[in-house]
Amino acid sequence: MYVEVIGTHQQASKEDLKGKFVVVIDTLRATSTIVTALANGCQQVFPVATCNEAKVLSTSWEPDRVLLAAEKRGHSIPGFPLGNSPRTFTPDKVAGKTLFLVTTNGTVALQKAQSASCVVIGALLNGQRVAEYIVEQEPEEVVILCSGTQGRFSLEDIITAGKIIGHIWDHRSASANELAIAAFQLYQVNREQFVPLMAQTAHGQSLLAQGDGDDLNFCLQEDLYPVIPQQTLSRVRLLTG
Ligand code: MLT
Repeated sequence: MYVEVIGTHQQASKEDLKGKFVVVIDTLRATSTIVTALANGCQQVFPVATCNEAKVLSTSWEPDRVLLAAEKRGHSIPGFPLGNSPRTFTPDKVAGKTLFLVTTNGTVALQKAQSASCVVIGALLNGQRVAEYIVEQEPEEVVILCSGTQGRFSLEDIITAGKIIGHIWDHRSASANELAIAAFQLYQVNREQFVPLMAQTAHGQSLLAQGDGDDLNFCLQEDLYPVIPQQTLSRVRLLTG
């Protein structure tokens, strides 16, 4: 097995991802939100790039089954009942719903990955389960696509990638690119201090400034939801069985 970590979605084209086994990560916060929503009973998620697209696509579904959520540069959007704080995707709000989610980086990365043969959604919240799935499936090559933030590398995504790689290496021999090796080291060294570390990052600072500091504590929990969300074409659902 060969594991490649890519630091931002801008560094990969649809063509690069075509036919590959891809794990998409946006730990703060899009993939943490998707994992949480599905673990709390949401039926399916459509990650979309723009609010307009979300509104248009959602009209094909029964209005009482639809949930719209959107974030632009961390802030919620008028007309969208939820933003992108995973803590708000509680069972009473999401159970049985079809969620249309718009975010600045994460959902764009997910749309780009639609050319892949298998797309799994990863976060710290479900990292071990995702890694177990990779070990079970044993693809020849795995691309771990970190969303990053506006074209910049994000520490929290790399650390999540490092967690997944560590688990793969515990069970399989795999070669990896240098960013994967660095990700593993960063995860190992910082395991006991994710929250203070992330509070120093640009994304952590902006979540704290906008009053969403509790999202840091929430998203940085490991393996709270042992689920495997998988994207097929444009839809994300939990893999069962
Ligand atoms: C994104 O996709 O850029 C995010 O998940 C940003 C956020 O909601 O903090």
